[in-house]
Amino acid sequence: MTTKFPRGRELILGVGAGIAAYKSADLLRRLQDNGFLVTVVPTPNSLNFVGKATWEALSGRKAQSELWEHVADVPHVALGDKANLVVIAPATADLIARIAQGRADDLLTNTVLSTTAPVMLIPAMHPKMWFNPATVENVEKLRDRGLFVMEPATGRLTGADSGVGRFPETAAIITFIEESYGYCADLVGVRMLVTAGGTREPIDPVRYIGNRSSGKQGWAIAHQAAMRGATVTLLLGPNELPVIEGIETVEIESALQMREEILTRFDDVDVLVMSAAVADAKPVSVSSNKIKKDKLGALILEENPDLLAEFSAKKRRGQVIAGFAAETEGDEAALIEAGKSKLARKGADLIYVNDVSDGKVFGSEITRGAIITREGTITSINDVTKERLADTLLDQIKERVSHE
Ligand code: CTP
Repeated sequence: MTTKFPRGRELILGVGAGIAAYKSADLLRRLQDNGFLVTVVPTPNSLNFVGKATWEALSGRKAQSELWEHVADVPHVALGDKANLVVIAPATADLIARIAQGRADDLLTNTVLSTTAPVMLIPAMHPKMWFNPATVENVEKLRDRGLFVMEPATGRLTGADSGVGRFPETAAIITFIEESYGYCADLVGVRMLVTAGGTREPIDPVRYIGNRSSGKQGWAIAHQAAMRGATVTLLLGPNELPVIEGIETVEIESALQMREEILTRFDDVDVLVMSAAVADAKPVSVSSNKIKKDKLGALILEENPDLLAEFSAKKRRGQVIAGFAAETEGDEAALIEAGKSKLARKGADLIYVNDVSDGKVFGSEITRGAIITREGTITSINDVTKERLADTLLDQIKERVSHE
C-alpha cells in the first residue's frame, strides 16, 4: 500500500449530459497523470455531447453506458465493487436528482447505488437550476449521506449569461478530489482492532446462548476505517455480512475465543473498538451430549470476563479504546447517564450509548444515541446510518490517537 493510494487507485469517471462533458476529457487525462486508473461511465444522454469513441480512446478501456451491454459481467455491481473512488463530472441537475432519489435507471446510477467507494460530484448547470430549491435540497441530501459535492465555479456560462454553475477548472477539480480523497485516507498508519457481532456460548452440541446483534455496526466501523486507510483486523461473531476486501477478518464464536484473539493482537494496535455484543454469561460446563429438555432448568451459568474492562485496564500510552453500551431506558437523559456510568465502570476512552429498546437498532441500518468521552463531551446521534456513525466515531478516535 502506498500512501498516495491507500485505498487503491481505480477511479470511475461518471459523465453527465452537460456541455461540460467535453471538459471532462481533459480531467480524465489529468487524473491519469495523477496515477488514477480511470474507467469512464457516461450516461446515455451525455453521448450526445461526447461519444464513446472519445472516452474509449482516452481511457484505453471500454466505456459502458447502459445496463444492457455485457450483462454476463454484471456490470452494475462489478464496476462499483472495483472502484476505489467515483467522480461524476459534470453532474447535471437531473443526475443529482436521480442519485438523491436512489434511482438506478442507467449504468452510472446503478454503480453509485452499489458502490461503497467515496462518490464525488462536480456540478455544472445554469444558476437558476443550481439555486432551485429542488437542487439545493438534493445537494444537501447527498452531502448528508457523505457524498462529496464540489461548489461549481462562477463565470461565463454556455449561453450569453454568467453566474454560479460553471464547471470548475480542471486544476481546481483535481485539488478538490485530492483534498476529499486525502480526508478519506486520514487513518493511514493507524492499526485498529474491531470486534463485532454477538458471541455464542455453547451449551451442548446443538444449543447456545446468543443475542440479537447483527454485527452491522462493527462491520461499518471496520469498513469505514479501511476506506480511510487504517490497517484493520475485524473479530467477527457468526454473521451474514459481506467480506471486506483488504482487511483481516477472524471469525470467532465464544467470548473466550474473542478474548484470545484480542490478547494476541492488543499490544500491536493503536485502537480497540469493542462493538461486539459479548454474551454476558456462559454455561459453567459445556455438555458433550445434547442435554435432555427436562434437565435444561438445571443449567448453571457464570459471567464471562468483561473484555472492554480488562483491556481498558491494560491500555498503554497512546492506545485508544472505544466501547458500546446497549440500553433500553428510552429517555435521552437516562440513556446518557447509563452511558456515563458504563464508561466510568469499564474505563474506556469513549463509548457510544445507543437506545435498543423495542428491537430498535438490532439488524437495522439506522442508529440513535450519543457518543460520550472520558472528559464528558457528548455528541448526540440522531437516526443516522451505521456508516455515518462509524465515521463520526472514527473522527473522534483519530483526534485521540494523535493526542494520547
Ligand atoms: N463487553 C465486553 N465484555 C463483556 C460484555 C460486554 O467487552 N463480557 C463490552 C461490549 O463489547 C460493549 C460494552 O462492553 O463495548 C458494553 O456492553 P453492554 O452489553 O451494554 O454492557 P454490559 O457490561 O453487558 O452491562 P449490562 O448488561 O449490565 O448493561
